[in-house]
Amino acid sequence: MNAVPKEMSQDIVLAADNLARHYSVKKSMFEQGTVKALNGVSFELKRGRTLAVVGESGCGKSTLARQLTMIEAPTSGRLLIEGEDVAGAKKAKIAELRQRVQMVFQNPFASLNPRKTVEQTLGEPLAINTSMTSTQRAERIAQMMRTVGLRPEHASRYPHMFSGGQRQRVAIARAMILDPQIVVADEPVSALDVSIQAQILNLFMDLQQQFGTSYVFISHNLSVVEHIADDVMVMYFGGVAELGDKRTIYAKPRHPYTRALMSATPAIFEEDRRIKIKLQGEMPSLLNPPSGCTFHQRCPYAIDRCQTEEPKLRVVDGRQLSCHRAEEVSEDEV
Ligand SMILES: Nc1ncnc2c1ncn2[C@@H]1O[C@H](COP(=O)(O)OP(=O)(O)O)[C@@H](O)[C@H]1O
Ligand code: SF4
Ligand SMILES: [Mg+2]
Repeated sequence: MNAVPKEMSQDIVLAADNLARHYSVKKSMFEQGTVKALNGVSFELKRGRTLAVVGESGCGKSTLARQLTMIEAPTSGRLLIEGEDVAGAKKAKIAELRQRVQMVFQNPFASLNPRKTVEQTLGEPLAINTSMTSTQRAERIAQMMRTVGLRPEHASRYPHMFSGGQRQRVAIARAMILDPQIVVADEPVSALDVSIQAQILNLFMDLQQQFGTSYVFISHNLSVVEHIADDVMVMYFGGVAELGDKRTIYAKPRHPYTRALMSATPAIFEEDRRIKIKLQGEMPSLLNPPSGCTFHQRCPYAIDRCQTEEPKLRVVDGRQLSCHRAEEVSEDEV
């Protein structure tokens, strides 16, 4: 009787609950240390929508991507795909779930096998996972190539014969060919010329419209995700700084780190010149985490409390964030 209504539970295609991934590393000859690359992250991805994950290099975005695509198992926390708990799933189930979550990487030259033609690259998942005949596979490959804006007559070409943008189209076609529910794209336009970035972003949006695919779209650049995102998760030091609806966050960022990231991205700040926080210094070493708020050494708003007390994630003004001073910060003109 208390069950969640089916429509509601079906609306969430992927959920992470306190997901963490720690790595054991050598600190020195004699000392072992722990890198908490991902340190307890929770969010939900709605069906057919895009969650953008944003943050500086080293904040744990790719580590998160590897957990979501089941390339690695998390140290702790839960990952639910279509309501299925990945941790408890049997091998066969995991294999099936892996098909439903595909990945697009930053560098299509590294992620595509240079010795395979497009036809081989796209045909392989079909041969392994479907009972299609070779004629059906060839048809599907041609159709997929057209869908991503490539010419089917180029199916026998190798990756080096394409431009960077076209190579990324091949990688996107490979991710989409089994009609996955979820695509995790890890900085998919960062390696491309600025002039090509918009084309690839448009392609992602077109594909989502056509196939209803849900995206986790990772970028270090807030302006890149401004159009594609429905929700935004700003990450810092392996945790969530701010998470919520895109419009809410872009209209009035309330975490000092989000504001600093936005200040560093002039294109999206044409109308709002008030917000100017300089992102000072660098992210501290994960091997020596700061006490209290992990952002306190760089934060212009830091007070004594920030050095000792870790801010818990809480809801302020319609979004989640982790900052003791969120209420004061956003009314302020810096
Ligand atoms: N296999 C690993 N072993 C040790 N440290 C790792 C490993 N993978 C990632 N890290 C560390 O975790 C942190 C987060 O890395 P990453 O997830 O790649 O960040 P991002 O993608 O946001 O740049 C970095 O400090 C990185 O060095
Ligand atoms: S908790 Fe303190 S140091 Fe951390 S972001 Fe908020 S004001 Fe800055
Ligand atoms: Mg990365």
